[in-house]
Amino acid sequence: MFKIETAATAAYIIAALLFILALAGLSKHETSKAGNTFGIAGMAVALIATIALAINRSISPLGLVLLVGAMIIGAAIGLWRARVVEMTGMPELIALLHSFVGLAAVLVGWNGYLDVENAPTSPEALKLAAEGMTGIHSAEVFVGVFIGAVTFTGSIVANLKLSARIKSAPLMLPGKNFLNIGALAVFFVLTVWFVIDPQLWLLVVVTVLALLLGWHLVASIGGGDMPVVVSMLNSYSGWAAAASGFLLGNDLLIITGALVGSSGAYLSYIMCKAMNRSFISVIAGGFGLEAGPSEDKDYGEHREITAEGAAELLGSADTVIITPGYGMAVAQAQYGVADLTRKLRERGVNVRFGIHPVAGRLPGHMNVLLAEAKVPYDIVLEMDEINDDFDETSVVLVIGANDTVNPAAAEDPGSPIAGMPVLTVWNADNVIVFKRSMASGYAGVQNPLFFRENTQMLFGDARDRVNDILAAL
Ligand code: TAP
Repeated sequence: MFKIETAATAAYIIAALLFILALAGLSKHETSKAGNTFGIAGMAVALIATIALAINRSISPLGLVLLVGAMIIGAAIGLWRARVVEMTGMPELIALLHSFVGLAAVLVGWNGYLDVENAPTSPEALKLAAEGMTGIHSAEVFVGVFIGAVTFTGSIVANLKLSARIKSAPLMLPGKNFLNIGALAVFFVLTVWFVIDPQLWLLVVVTVLALLLGWHLVASIGGGDMPVVVSMLNSYSGWAAAASGFLLGNDLLIITGALVGSSGAYLSYIMCKAMNRSFISVIAGGFGLEAGPSEDKDYGEHREITAEGAAELLGSADTVIITPGYGMAVAQAQYGVADLTRKLRERGVNVRFGIHPVAGRLPGHMNVLLAEAKVPYDIVLEMDEINDDFDETSVVLVIGANDTVNPAAAEDPGSPIAGMPVLTVWNADNVIVFKRSMASGYAGVQNPLFFRENTQMLFGDARDRVNDILAAL
């Protein structure tokens, strides 16, 4: 006989497999669209199965209305945000979405407490007591609320920093490492206490503690390390969802949470390696990081070039490397850049792209923009693949990049971005930097590249300047 419970379990397994296929697909440009489709299909299967289960477990009519109402409102807001978001606003939107996962985990945890620990005679509480599982339940509530609350406030700070509504520089409270470790120690003690004697005030204290810790952890990380924070919060949101899955007895939520948690953690690790940062230091809120001396160095004068001058240089070049950055995304200059690439290649110039792992504001940001403008994949190279070729290059076009081409990272041990690998553009014969002013990049550090002998600045909006060069060519 057909049983809803069995069918839902089968649907959950299918959804979990679709999520794994989604992750596999998203790891490469060529398969990323298919990956997205798998993810959407998996989520649709999961939603249908969960609603069928709820109906089968005799959800009240009011509950059903609330469920459907919430889904319609959520879907409408989600579709609208996804349609209007600019590519450059994507990281802050993702950070905001992570905060919802965190908040949901806190609410599920609190609900678990109110249903069981706070109502010892409820059927749920009696069942857990008979199985001897009440202690495990209390631990799940406590851990879920903690991870959820850290994710909630941490993601809000990340959103505010990425959207430049608060300063991206790291907050340097005195004894900040002690504060973080102290908060973790208090959490462990309170967890044991709560498992032995689950009292409401303990849950209130851990919620407030975790909210403050989340805020402090992300506020303490700044500038160039923000990309790692976003993927780390992605990971935290996965673990928060997994904790909710345990509480709700929902296997799919546990699997999905674990997939998000572990893939986010692995992405953070890869990004830390690419940025030459310590993984532990970043997840511990910039552990061991000290404030550097403020800069007031005189770098001398910069030189300027016109679009016509740039076109002339490009006309006589045999090898050109383009290193795009966040400014190309802001200016939406990728289409002009693709046209310029085509034109130069038709003239026999060897044009390639050098992509820094954290160029832009989200992993793969530049790759997505260039693919959108139909730049061939095979001339888009990673930093490690192209860094040795700059000294044999006639012209480098730095289009809206700044931190990712900053020689101070390689040459000035006192710089806040010291040790971060960068594209060594300054080794080329000529460097043309497209930007609107002499302002610093995301990390807020001055860039000595702009004052080098072989560097010329081409001021203005990157899209306009690229179009001017195209016209002059
Ligand atoms: P940035 O260092 O952010 O510099 C971008 C430059 O683009 C700015 O100096 C700006 O100068 C210029 N610009 C802005 N709008 C422009 C326009 N319309 N036309 C021309 N130029 C424009 O860029 P980057 O080299 O890509 O480095 C990325 C930074 O962001 C790194 O510090 C990285 O750690 C951080 N970050 C990365 C991510 C990920 S995952 N990729 C996430 C968060 C943060 P003007 O204002 O003078 O024009």
